[in-house]
Amino acid sequence: MHTHKPTLFSFSKQTIKDHYRVGYQKTGWLQKEYNSDYIFVDLEKYYFNLRDQIAQLLIYKRFINQTIQLEELHDYVPEEFKQYGHDGISKIGTFFYETNAQFIKTLHEFIHHILYKKIIKLPFLFQATPTFRIHCPNSANAEFFPHFHTDLALGHPPYEINLWIPLTEKRSGHGFYLATVENSNKIARFIDYDIPSLMDDTVFRNQHYLAFCKPKLFEINVEKGWGLMFDGRCFHTAMPISDHTRISIDFRIVLQEDFVKAELIYENRGIRKQLLLLPNDYYYSLTSADL
Ligand SMILES: [Fe+2]
Repeated sequence: MHTHKPTLFSFSKQTIKDHYRVGYQKTGWLQKEYNSDYIFVDLEKYYFNLRDQIAQLLIYKRFINQTIQLEELHDYVPEEFKQYGHDGISKIGTFFYETNAQFIKTLHEFIHHILYKKIIKLPFLFQATPTFRIHCPNSANAEFFPHFHTDLALGHPPYEINLWIPLTEKRSGHGFYLATVENSNKIARFIDYDIPSLMDDTVFRNQHYLAFCKPKLFEINVEKGWGLMFDGRCFHTAMPISDHTRISIDFRIVLQEDFVKAELIYENRGIRKQLLLLPNDYYYSLTSADL
């Protein structure tokens, strides 16, 4: 049904740069609706429900054999599972690409009842498989961070909305840094809008790039029981945590109206999988309204 549209990476590098340059000039949905580049989302009872589901998944995957304080998970996990891969996802996080029916049910209830009914109020598509990030203290390859990037680097649309949901209590801080769209545009301009190059470690570990980015992001405090919704153009990075385990899930959203209007099909050029940003592919088969 969408196959008549060309895919992002079928265009020339220059066309993709121009596309993102123009994308940074537009007014995003959060900016229109909330007059901000980011908002906090009250998770309500789903903070506890999702936490419980994660504990159950950890038992189901045999990392633990009884419920524990999730913040103490690093005491139960062998070192090799704590280390980060080339995408900044720890090995233990990769065990959660598959969840189970109960987890998915809880997540979809949250998406429908909170995100759709209370926040966005429009049908949207969302990433079918949320990304689990489990940061343990002193993990190998932690020098991957900071990874100053926007998910547009994977081939995502400039109108994307990003949702980050920490599910552990912060102790020394959650270590999540964000730049406004305005500052993100400055960073994008610094790399001449070659956003996909941000997946290349020679680009994101370049000393000039790091020095340019650093003062443009601020540490964002997300209180217990809240999530962070931000304009997908915002540069961000996690930072490793030193004294407790942080578990978060994140996923991306696009309004159905933006998806339908788009003249191209965006892509997800992750390390793990190449996906098209279509329903039943990167996105779940149903919209938020139809769950
Ligand atoms: Fe990201």
